[in-house]
Amino acid sequence: MTLCEYKPGLENIPAAQSSISYVEGKEGTLEYRGIPIEELASKSNFIETAYLLIWGELPRKEELEAFEHEIRFHRRIKYRIRDMMKCFPETGHPMDALQTSAAALGLFYSRRALDNPQYIREAVVRLLAKIPTMVAAFKLMRRGHDPVQPRDDLPYSANFLYMLNEREPDPLAAQIFDVCLTLHAEHTINASTFSAMVTASTLTDPYAVIASAVGTLAGPLHGGANEEVLAMLEEIGSVENVRPYLEERLQRKEKIMGFGHRVYKVKDPRAKILQQLAEQLFEQSGGDKYYEIAVELEQAVEEKLGQRGIYANVDFYSGLVYRKLGIPTDLFTPVFAIARVAGWLAHWKEQLAVNRIFRPTQEYTGTHNASYIPIEER
Ligand code: ACO
Repeated sequence: MTLCEYKPGLENIPAAQSSISYVEGKEGTLEYRGIPIEELASKSNFIETAYLLIWGELPRKEELEAFEHEIRFHRRIKYRIRDMMKCFPETGHPMDALQTSAAALGLFYSRRALDNPQYIREAVVRLLAKIPTMVAAFKLMRRGHDPVQPRDDLPYSANFLYMLNEREPDPLAAQIFDVCLTLHAEHTINASTFSAMVTASTLTDPYAVIASAVGTLAGPLHGGANEEVLAMLEEIGSVENVRPYLEERLQRKEKIMGFGHRVYKVKDPRAKILQQLAEQLFEQSGGDKYYEIAVELEQAVEEKLGQRGIYANVDFYSGLVYRKLGIPTDLFTPVFAIARVAGWLAHWKEQLAVNRIFRPTQEYTGTHNASYIPIEER
């Protein structure tokens, strides 16, 4: 018996009750545990926000210090994982490298005790701590270089940029990157989060949960539009070419990358914050041609498509910011994963608290009582 109509992609079908995040598309609201994203972006940092998402409330000072301390001292990855990563093909996509390495953590930390709060805590700490190290390590190892060891004296975001670019980032770059992580940490139940929840519902280990979410995020319909935004800005090439390019593309009925959203019908609140960050970053370095093209394009798209609810989304400015921070284009989605681990872990914990294994139904569209035809008669 089915209780409701079949909807492709389960569109608008609630798959869970959740108190982790809230999105409202007409006003452009995003809240984590009820706190507006603007507040968190300006007053919190990624690790505190991760704590909020995962444990449901803001930490007291000593709780935050203990959490940061634990993450700081779990950043290293085992030499056997590094050795395994050295064998990955240099042409492999960093998301595949990350999915494999995240799953491999389950081989090394195999004790599964989902009813033990200490086990949950250790898994949360390990995943938040080690995923950035694995992303940065693959960037260097695929070129045959040794990975840069994490530095215990650097905060979370500064340490990632340090491991990636082999030099300490300037404070503004590290702070902007930290805000980017906060903005991408959680966004209700999308494909990768749902994937994490389904995997979690079988009571498997948390490394398998995160590996399946990474595999889901890797698809072009989920992560990755910011790479295409950069390619588009390069194709436009100059501020003067923005409007002719836009006209031509719209005439060909092609989408403008970095615009439109299934939920937001106004400018994505994360895009507003990212634009301010991009402005600061490019101001500091004396301007950027592609940032100017982006600003002009946003204005032109707003004039053309704004009345249809199509505005800049989170991906529009993030690629420009990431490139400026020295992040290679094919690492944009792994960076998204570094941030979203916080949200996936929050949903893993929430799922465990009320677990019932996901087992939806289907509408059968095949035949019945079909005859078996011997192979020589087919
Ligand atoms: N440029 C031009 N037209 C657009 C755009 C766009 N970026 N987005 C939507 N439209 C138009 C469509 O052509 C369609 O027009 P029609 O009714 O005349 O056929 C109408 O708006 C509805 O489009 P849908 O794709 O059905 O809208 P939906 O809400 O399902 O899509 C989506 C949202 C997939 C994000 C879409 O806007 C899009 O493809 N944008 C470009 C890619 C992009 O930036 N993706 C990142 C999204 S953010 C994230 O995933 C983190």
